[in-house]
Amino acid sequence: MTAAPNQFVARLRPLRLPRVCVAVTGTDPAEMVEKADALVRDNTFLEFRLDYLSRPLLALARIKQFNEYHPHVSTIATCRRVANGGRFRGSVATQLDILTKAAAAGCQLVDLELQSAVRLKRAQLERLRTKAALILSYHDFRGTKKLEETLEKMVALPADFYKIVTTATTLHDNVVMMKFLEKNSDQHSLIGLCMGEQGIISRVLGVRAGSAFTFAAVSEDEKTAPGQVTAQELRSTYRIEQVDPATRVYAVAGDPVAHSLSPAIMNAALRRETVNGVYVALHAKTLKDLLGCVHDIPIHGLSITMPYKEAIIAHLDNTDSHTSKIGACNTVVRAQDGKLYGFNTDAAGVVRPLQQRISLEQAKILVLGAGGAARAAVYGLKERGAEVYILNRTPGPAQKLARSARARLLKRADLKKLSFDVIINATSVGMGNTRESPLNENEIKARYVFDMVYDPQETRFLKAAKARGAQIIPGIEMFVHQAARQFEIWTGETAPRSAMETAALDALETAARLALSGKIAAVVTGPIHKHRMQAIRQGTGKRNPFGIARPREIPQRQSNGFR
Ligand code: ATR
Repeated sequence: MTAAPNQFVARLRPLRLPRVCVAVTGTDPAEMVEKADALVRDNTFLEFRLDYLSRPLLALARIKQFNEYHPHVSTIATCRRVANGGRFRGSVATQLDILTKAAAAGCQLVDLELQSAVRLKRAQLERLRTKAALILSYHDFRGTKKLEETLEKMVALPADFYKIVTTATTLHDNVVMMKFLEKNSDQHSLIGLCMGEQGIISRVLGVRAGSAFTFAAVSEDEKTAPGQVTAQELRSTYRIEQVDPATRVYAVAGDPVAHSLSPAIMNAALRRETVNGVYVALHAKTLKDLLGCVHDIPIHGLSITMPYKEAIIAHLDNTDSHTSKIGACNTVVRAQDGKLYGFNTDAAGVVRPLQQRISLEQAKILVLGAGGAARAAVYGLKERGAEVYILNRTPGPAQKLARSARARLLKRADLKKLSFDVIINATSVGMGNTRESPLNENEIKARYVFDMVYDPQETRFLKAAKARGAQIIPGIEMFVHQAARQFEIWTGETAPRSAMETAALDALETAARLALSGKIAAVVTGPIHKHRMQAIRQGTGKRNPFGIARPREIPQRQSNGFR
């Protein structure tokens, strides 16, 4: 059964509610309304969470004043009961009374849970709807299930909006939510999203699938659940007001991925080049879940980060020569026929910043490390005709890489007698302010020193290089260049590198501030180093966020004297 039309729908719809509603909480009415006052400059859609107050009715006089003073702001009154995930301990009758009075105080919308609504008479709901538009809501704090069945129960009751909020435990749950929205938003005004870190994509893309609006956190510091996005991020990073069915979706996928810099930098590039696209972070706990999501959403381009850079190759329809040589893929593009093509842009990330400074033909370049990042550097540089030397703490991987790339192998003692055009740190040594350096100052004899580590921006290695008179190339350049190459592969456009670099530096600064305040354990920066990922996953991330120590379960390999 479909709900009867209501005058408030007719009044609200032409206004077109903003796409982002910000929930306002507070310990007392004054604090709640003060917060709302502070928010109205940037947010014209607020939800008063009356259930956070011990005596919600006492807030209504202030809320009335607020509504009168800000007629351009749409406000929702919510007084969710404890049993349904809120904080209100009163009866359903009292809840109804509070919402009715909130409507009289000028809140244009009121939110009532399905569980409360079924305990009221139809006439009571209809009466409430004469005062404000009614959002009938349902929250599932465990999973994303039975959406159609829930909606069927909901639309048996009269309401103006039907809100279903579930919890994503997999990426696929977002697909379920979005398909549900796509299928049903023609017949009903729906609000749908998935909570949880895995549900972040539904907050951004839900409106594209048909959700009337979505919810956001007030600020970075007030995020109350993983996966919450701030209103500011939704609007400026994800440009949610412009997301429409034609918007192409791009994403960074990995585990963990929550604090990746990639959304900030890629969305900045998409905005700068006015590409109708949005770039989100996908926390993929399994590759299968990720691949399902890529096909179903559908996702046009992917940045692949740890731990899937190697494993994804088997699932791609084709790869470029870098990917096959390096054995790792960091970029996927989904062609029109649905086929997935893999690329590796880390090599471009190393080669391009150097090419801007020197000719690589015959340049004498020392690469420190023999892992994934080093492989990308070695193959990329060899391809450009450089004379490449490899030095790694453990001889085995270095020998293997030197043999396959036809590079030269060094021992640490050899450094005394050698000088280079460039030395590149492709190890994870120096990440996260550890004050460690892969080489001592007296071992650095080069014109240029390039550190792939970019957090901190000036590593101990770069400081030592400066002291030795070398020109330094900070790691953020590699990050930006590999991302720029991804952007080019996906869009066919030249990447706006300086806008990307500015966004990357801003995001690094924000992340550093949050890490300092203890809000996040560390910056997880996507495509380059996997040691920090391992450290965070193993829980060593807090103490030593970038995990310079070897992961515990990996046996120590024999050392050749290189740290
Ligand atoms: P990535 O994908 O970031 O390159 P990786 O493939 O695990 O990650 O490679 C990490 C590189 O950093 C390796 O060359 C590693 O040396 P080992 O082969 O000896 O493990 C190097 N590395 C990590 N920690 C190091 C340390 N404390 N001292 C010297 N080298 C280190």
